[in-house]
Amino acid sequence: MGTAQAGQTDTEQVVFPPPPSFSEQAGVCSMQQYQQMWDDAADDPEGFWGRLAKEELYWFHPFDKVLEWNEPYAKWFTEGKTNVSYNCLDVHLDSWRKNKAALIWEGEPGDTRTLTYAQLHREVCKFSNVLKALGVEQGDVVSIYMPMVPELAIALLACARIGAIHSVVFGGFSSEAIAERNNDASAKILLTADTGWRRGSQLPLKETVDKALEKSPTVEKCIVYRRTGSEVNMVAGRDLWWHDLMESASPDCPAEPLESETPLFILYTSGSTGKPKGIKHTTAGYNLYAKMTSRWVFDLKDTDVYWCTADIGWITGHSYIVYGPLSNGVTAVMYEGAPNWPDESRFWDIVDRHQVTIFYTAPTAIRAFIKWGDQHVEKHDLSSLRLLGTVGEPINPAAWMWYHEKIGKRRCPIVDTWWQTETGGIMMSPLPGATPTKPGSCTRPLPGIIPQIVDEKGNELGTGQQGILVITKPWPGMLRGIWGDDDRYKQQYWSTIAHNYLAGDNAMCDADGYYWIYGRLDDVLNVAGHRLSTTEVESALVSHPSVAEAAVVGRPDDVKGEAVAAFVTLSSGDANEDLRKQLKQHVRQQIGAHAQPDDVRFAALLPKTRSGKIMRRLLRDIAAGKETIGDTTTLEDYSVLASLRSDEE
Ligand code: WTA
Repeated sequence: MGTAQAGQTDTEQVVFPPPPSFSEQAGVCSMQQYQQMWDDAADDPEGFWGRLAKEELYWFHPFDKVLEWNEPYAKWFTEGKTNVSYNCLDVHLDSWRKNKAALIWEGEPGDTRTLTYAQLHREVCKFSNVLKALGVEQGDVVSIYMPMVPELAIALLACARIGAIHSVVFGGFSSEAIAERNNDASAKILLTADTGWRRGSQLPLKETVDKALEKSPTVEKCIVYRRTGSEVNMVAGRDLWWHDLMESASPDCPAEPLESETPLFILYTSGSTGKPKGIKHTTAGYNLYAKMTSRWVFDLKDTDVYWCTADIGWITGHSYIVYGPLSNGVTAVMYEGAPNWPDESRFWDIVDRHQVTIFYTAPTAIRAFIKWGDQHVEKHDLSSLRLLGTVGEPINPAAWMWYHEKIGKRRCPIVDTWWQTETGGIMMSPLPGATPTKPGSCTRPLPGIIPQIVDEKGNELGTGQQGILVITKPWPGMLRGIWGDDDRYKQQYWSTIAHNYLAGDNAMCDADGYYWIYGRLDDVLNVAGHRLSTTEVESALVSHPSVAEAAVVGRPDDVKGEAVAAFVTLSSGDANEDLRKQLKQHVRQQIGAHAQPDDVRFAALLPKTRSGKIMRRLLRDIAAGKETIGDTTTLEDYSVLASLRSDEE
């Protein structure tokens, strides 16, 4: 492996060793140490996880078996009794951390609140009692549709405390989507707020919930948190104000000792079909995995101010705003609003004012920052930062380099973390004090994780070959099923490649044992017999100075099987024929003739879900000249579709 050289343009070949000053202070400070941990875990997974579980979780009753594996069903730490809320809160109360900031919250209008561990504990206990008083019992499902306020975290921890199962529905979903999830999970209670702030205007959360509740027969009560003070309709007998209930609630609520496999939450995620899947996670294994991966990947220290910009409506927020950081007793920042409100420097302003040390965000956000311009970054002092992270999609090397230079000032390691809703926590990532990084690679698996790249028959592929990414051994954070649908669980994750967990991603392992994720398997194109990753083509397009963002899909082609269709948003330059030609040529230069897009369409925006994922299925329909079919309820902006269709070549 070479090392970083100034002016080197072929960024995929560049290697960035951890800065020595970072390694010196890191929990895992060398590749030897990482390798030792990984080998230990691989040689004796049950010994490895069993030891950590004993040391890192509080047990009301000890477990007697580390793993019962009845493929594809795992039970971790059987007979043990613990409680996630206890592990996140109570364990800190008899230490100096009692009065340490647990959450530093900032609202979009600029209001702030800080909750210490003791204060957070008190609020959680009170809200647990509120839930109990409404008849919520262990195993009941509580649906949560709230803005990013501390009460959202409080709600999660309160459910965990009493053994209720939370199902968070991201605050951007429609009433139809909420009702579908309520019904699938048979939710008993729904938590919401009057309205939520978004770019200075208000999201009508309660109004949306009112419509959803017309179609949610299992929901008995709706608890409404007053965030903005907007007037909302309250239905007598069904709707209750959060503050009224909290007023009389007792702050005394011991955490319930819960069996290790007690369901902790359901989180709905999209599959290849239109119907969302309720991914199920349970108590002890998930808790341990979120805790350990947070500590390893973010090198957490008591002095850190850690900020994950995700929404708690997604798995990243569950594991890396709430459960992972709080289990480690760290101070976590939580921000309510948009990154471009009141202007595009908001994130950097937050980093500066709260002296954030660890910053974890998504590549799509990074590409937005690039598009908005460096002047917004340069207004603020980012010298408090020591570590950067990304999650959610492959990061193109150009975005990685910008992040490294403009945000990290070439000082901060970047952890590109690969994982999924299903995996519960990070599966592959650099350890920042140990792993030399390569832009665009999530590097190596974490201890206890054994990935493999295989072909359709399950044969292991060699170095440098793209194939199907599977995980060969169970791990504590793994999903325990799809809510109410065992068949789909078996069929989607365990039947394509026998005895292996199918991640659904296309990946490659290079000669250094580094993994490169090329996107979902269904995004792999076969162009005239060449296997081609859409992500690879996108990365090439984005490396052109005029391109802000690109999405590439396949469309049927009589001669080549599939042709490459590219949808491009520009950061500069004019959307004209000349640029179209240039971009095709650029991709040809970057990858090869087989990758040259057949179509390049310019668009002001790409169709995205509210979580920022590009909706490729829609693009495939548009590229093929078909009417868009299937579920579009997660699309953020419908007008995007019309504008994409109109840019025909
Ligand atoms: C993709 C988000 C490349 C991948 C935590 C995965 C990534 C899907 C990365 C899961 C990464 C996530 N590099 N691809 N670092 N992280 N992905 O369930 O395709 O929202 O299968 O979980 O995102 O998305 P999910």
